[in-house]
Amino acid sequence: MKVLGINTSPRKESNVRIALETALKALEAKDVECEIVDVNAMVISPCQGDNYCKEHESQCALNDDMVDIYEKIEEADGIILASPIYFCDVNAQAKAVIDRLYSYFMDETYQELFSSKKVSIIATHGAAPLEAFESSLNTQMAAFQVLGFQPGDILALNDNNVPGSIKDKAEQLKQASELGEKLL
Ligand SMILES: Cc1cc2nc3c(=O)[nH]c(=O)nc-3n(C[C@H](O)[C@H](O)[C@H](O)COP(=O)(O)O)c2cc1C
Repeated sequence: MKVLGINTSPRKESNVRIALETALKALEAKDVECEIVDVNAMVISPCQGDNYCKEHESQCALNDDMVDIYEKIEEADGIILASPIYFCDVNAQAKAVIDRLYSYFMDETYQELFSSKKVSIIATHGAAPLEAFESSLNTQMAAFQVLGFQPGDILALNDNNVPGSIKDKAEQLKQASELGEKLL
């Protein structure tokens, strides 16, 4: 079994990446093979909305690092998207990846492939109340569901402005670990 962690934070000592690593550790303890892709270090252009994919068996016209992510998503049994909250939503790096998944939209073969894969989302944020962006995270999860994925957990972890500060938050790390354990 394989799980793909998609980290979209651009920061060193990223809190959401630490939470993601914690979730994956719980899966590795169950002999699940885990991998993290760091989206900020990759070249992922925004979807051009050209519908090229609709005429080319879900292949995107753009030839960039998203090609690697497509491959890894197709191979994985589960996915964890880990994003910081920027202005009450996932960040632009995360949204670029989600939009590029449009190439799979309405393709029954991929709907079928994804129907056995679960997606969970981890977000870290600074100080805003969860109500400020709960609906945004539900919307991003809905995008995965439209493509056929099974919805997993959504976890938002507050008070994480200082890089690495989540390391001192045992309860939040426990929640991340539980999210991982429940994924598969
Ligand atoms: C551009 C920007 C927008 C942000 N918007 C919000 C926000 O709307 N609500 C919030 O609680 N925190 C917000 N934050 C704080 C980050 O969500 C927080 O620092 C997060 O834990 C960073 O994750 P990281 O350490 O993994 O990069 C924002 C930070 C940046 C840089």
